[in-house]
Amino acid sequence: MHWTSPESRSRSLYERARKIFPGANTRQQIWMSPYPPYLASGRGLWVTDVDGHRYLDLTGNLGVLIHGHAHPLVNAAIAEQLEHGTCFALPTEAELRLGGLLCGRVPGFERLRFTNTGSEAVAVALRAARAFNGRSRIARIEGVYHGSDDLAAVGTDSSPDNWGTDPASTPRYPGMPAAILDQVLVLPANDLEATERLLAKAGDTLAAILVDPAPLRCGFTPLDSDYMALLRDLSRRAGTLLIFDEVIAFRLGFSGAQGRFGIDPDLTALGKIIGGGMPIGAVAGREDVMAVFGNELEAARVPASGTFTANPVSMVAGDAAMSLLDSAAFEHLEHLGHAVRERAASIILAAGVPAQITGIGSLFCLHPHDRQIRDYRDYHRSREEVAIMGRIHRSLLEQRVLLTPNGSGFLATVMREQDLEAFFTALPAALATAFA
Ligand SMILES: Cc1ncc(COP(=O)(O)O)c(C=O)c1O
Repeated sequence: MHWTSPESRSRSLYERARKIFPGANTRQQIWMSPYPPYLASGRGLWVTDVDGHRYLDLTGNLGVLIHGHAHPLVNAAIAEQLEHGTCFALPTEAELRLGGLLCGRVPGFERLRFTNTGSEAVAVALRAARAFNGRSRIARIEGVYHGSDDLAAVGTDSSPDNWGTDPASTPRYPGMPAAILDQVLVLPANDLEATERLLAKAGDTLAAILVDPAPLRCGFTPLDSDYMALLRDLSRRAGTLLIFDEVIAFRLGFSGAQGRFGIDPDLTALGKIIGGGMPIGAVAGREDVMAVFGNELEAARVPASGTFTANPVSMVAGDAAMSLLDSAAFEHLEHLGHAVRERAASIILAAGVPAQITGIGSLFCLHPHDRQIRDYRDYHRSREEVAIMGRIHRSLLEQRVLLTPNGSGFLATVMREQDLEAFFTALPAALATAFA
């Protein structure tokens, strides 16, 4: 039965949710109109809804599940840990295994600290930068999503009404304190001249520049290499720390995005794939900067701790998932990503509609317009374009292919090219419906 049918099980769950959650949901990012299908299970590339329909899942829970759902080796690691307990108020060896694996992969990860989410990792990294150099302001790129931390969220949802000529420090929600907005300088992606001018004006007031090297809100298109090099150079000269947000971008290579693009940030925020499907985040980087965390007895200048931090279930799941991600796995993901983008681009061309697909590595994003995307302003969608994207998403879902509502997709090591046929078959009708 269709999930929107009045007799569907999804409908009855939605009706219950309306009485429990504001807006009937507890996670806005994945909401769709009139309400989404509710899921019952997932295995490999497939998820099944509560009415028994199977969908090809190209979301992998927004980039978490790089080996698909319920991978047997990850599940086995979790199951074994469950037998030994789920969380303790003392450290375990499991945190050393995952922490050691991550530090072993990236030369700049001299020390590492776990958190529970990517948002927390970004917040903690910013706090570390502030404490390290005793400055409070930060800079970040316009429009890029860095999670829920207030400081990192300034300038995330700008629109033509309020973004200004030089990017404005726009609030994420009504009532966001002006004192927070004042702390954030917003930079235009890939605009060397304006960025150089704005950073020169900021002088030595900035604690850090926060950068996602391949942001979703630029279509997962990497920032220009000379732009990244400029940020590295100017931050170093001003004594400002460069923080990479690799919560998603870490999946771009064995040594993360920084290895792929040849940039050495001072700190890196991690999340998503490193937890193997369990909640996680981490901040890693220079030993002298990370020393601000210290421990409870000596040298701790920045508090960073949490009830569930480094819980062994997340640690063993992450260790299992990351151990599976060897060079061959990355090669496979590159190949798949290339194939998806090429095939979808030819379908869009044949459809003759103003749409496009962009991305890098195992990341892709469909857009309801054909503007060249170099920054958030190019990516930004008008109301009409948002409606078109909604129709593409909805039509794909009707044809049992799950993308995120904004059109982004995340590939998994367990996919083969032929598994993606369902997507290629569904795309022409989705485009035709959306642009009709
Ligand atoms: C680039 C980036 N940074 C930070 C976050 C926040 O991570 P989390 O949702 O685990 O808090 C996200 C989440 O999607 C993200 O995409």
